[in-house]
Amino acid sequence: MKEYRIAVLEGDGIGPEIVSEAVKVLDRTAQSFGFAVSYERSLLGGAAIDAKKTPLPQKTVECCKTADSVLLGAVGGPKWDALPGNQRPEAGLLGIRKALGLYANLRPAVIFGPLKDASPLKSEVVGEALDIMVVRELTGGIYFGKRGTLEENGVKAAFDTEKYSVTEIERIAHTAFDLARKRNRRLCSVDKANVLDSSRLWRQTVCRVAEEYADVELSHMYVDNCAMQLVRNPAQFDVIVTSNMFGDILSDEASMISGSIGMLASASLGGSGFGLYEPIHGSAPDIAGMDVANPLATILSVAMMLRYSLGEPEAAQAIEDAVARALVTARTRDIYSPDCGAVLISCHEMGDLVASLVRPA
Ligand code: NAD
Ligand code: IPM
Ligand code: MN
Repeated sequence: MKEYRIAVLEGDGIGPEIVSEAVKVLDRTAQSFGFAVSYERSLLGGAAIDAKKTPLPQKTVECCKTADSVLLGAVGGPKWDALPGNQRPEAGLLGIRKALGLYANLRPAVIFGPLKDASPLKSEVVGEALDIMVVRELTGGIYFGKRGTLEENGVKAAFDTEKYSVTEIERIAHTAFDLARKRNRRLCSVDKANVLDSSRLWRQTVCRVAEEYADVELSHMYVDNCAMQLVRNPAQFDVIVTSNMFGDILSDEASMISGSIGMLASASLGGSGFGLYEPIHGSAPDIAGMDVANPLATILSVAMMLRYSLGEPEAAQAIEDAVARALVTARTRDIYSPDCGAVLISCHEMGDLVASLVRPA
């Protein structure tokens, strides 16, 4: 029997709660599809700071590097907010992405049929089947550029630098074009080329890469317009490719169209089959430990893991189908309303329900 080794980084806040539901669903999926999964837990973020005095212990990096795939909850919380930037939980997350070379972050904003009423947008705006793939560059840009604090004429100042090389832009552009080719063959590259040199290089480079993809229709959009277009007419988008920070912001916005940030999964890839899978949301300190978080973004991240890293597309589909069926009858607090026709359930009940609905097609 095939066995997959998964490195599990629960992280902080709701991290342990949502990861445990995702593991429950993966175990059930493995049983019904005839493969085995083993887990090795490692520390990341605030949990690692508390136990090891660093947000990213070397042991965690080794554990991830030797695994077939990585499953991550979320990191951060008020307890660690006063620490210097490079010692915060978030630095551990950026560090593991960089250490594993995961430059491409895929964030699919899809709306599950039963959730149309949970979207804050009118159903005629959302359209029949919203399906946007945000491709976010993940190991470059302002997150990793030179930064510092200084004093100018006795006044404290700080700076962060947005820098992209042609090589970094080319590889993320290829990822996005290849994905668009397998979807509806439309790619929108989002930048701020009317102001930033780094964006002008981004646009030029994406245009050059486009010459290899004559079958994909390329458009360009400024990021401020894109933020507006996402709520005006989200159905116009197929694949969006953008920088690290713009992708962070636009994907949170796109997630809400699907009803809740608790629905949006992600895959972080580095050009090989290896990947790290995590929900796009954070550690939600306001609801941590209350068993009310929506575990579906993490459960859907497991589906992405099965599809993109483990070569088990039928198992991935079975999880996505189980999520769609679960939403017909039950919802967590973030996507529930008294008139939605479904019952209100907890985080662990949602995990139980999805697990019980996973079955081969
Ligand atoms: P957040 O995503 O944690 O929470 C924003 C809002 O969404 C909160 O009201 C929260 O309750 C809600 N929410 C998030 N996930 C949910 C879920 N699964 N179910 C139901 N509701 C959910 O963002 P924030 O409040 O800006 O950040 C909190 C902490 O998380 C910070 O320390 C931040 O740095 C960190 N963070 C981590 C990641 C990550 O690990 N990938 C991502 C974003 C933020
Ligand atoms: C995300 C988060 C992280 C990011 C933070 C916590 C470093 O917001 O995964 O979207 O900005 O990449
Ligand atoms: Mn984010």
